[in-house]
Amino acid sequence: MINILDKTFVPLISREDIENRITTLANEITNDYQGRCPIFVVVLNGAFLFASELVKRIPLTCEISFIRLSSYAKTESTGEVREIIGMDNNIEGRDVIIIEDIVDTGLTMSQLLSQLNGLAPASVAIATLLHKPEALQTSIDLKYIGFNIGNKFVVGYGLDYDGIGRNLDSLYVLA
Ligand code: IMP
Repeated sequence: MINILDKTFVPLISREDIENRITTLANEITNDYQGRCPIFVVVLNGAFLFASELVKRIPLTCEISFIRLSSYAKTESTGEVREIIGMDNNIEGRDVIIIEDIVDTGLTMSQLLSQLNGLAPASVAIATLLHKPEALQTSIDLKYIGFNIGNKFVVGYGLDYDGIGRNLDSLYVLA
């Protein structure tokens, strides 16, 4: 059990289980994109650890781009989505793979998808470490999912509670 600010969290998924699952996802992506040069679009800040563990297991010729986009303040979605910051690669005609930490309501991802689709990529797939199916408010095709989890707030492995907890090497859930 750990305390972050005013909240208590308990272990949810171990580092070993996360890394084993990431290896499986990396193998799937490697097989699916043989002979292509995908561009990974990493959604900062939360996806930084997942992205680094994922891409180093994918021996394809590829590009990696980092953007920022967030709709969260503390533990509740504000429903507001900020603009994409840092999308400086030309993705026209390219195979894009978005790397995200978590798809919760899906509102952030559907906004991001519509903005990226406006840039005329050849294809867009999503790789997310976590997904909360019960919280999803919009239909999105999540091609690569690390773990489906319940509708509870989690921290660790890149995810934070009010800025704290991103460096934890496993996942914890609100007690
Ligand atoms: P959505 O728009 O509701 O799908 O939220 C997406 C973003 O909210 C994610 O990229 C995270 O930054 C943040 N988020 C959603 N659920 C959690 C959580 O349980 N812990 C930490 N951040 C979360």
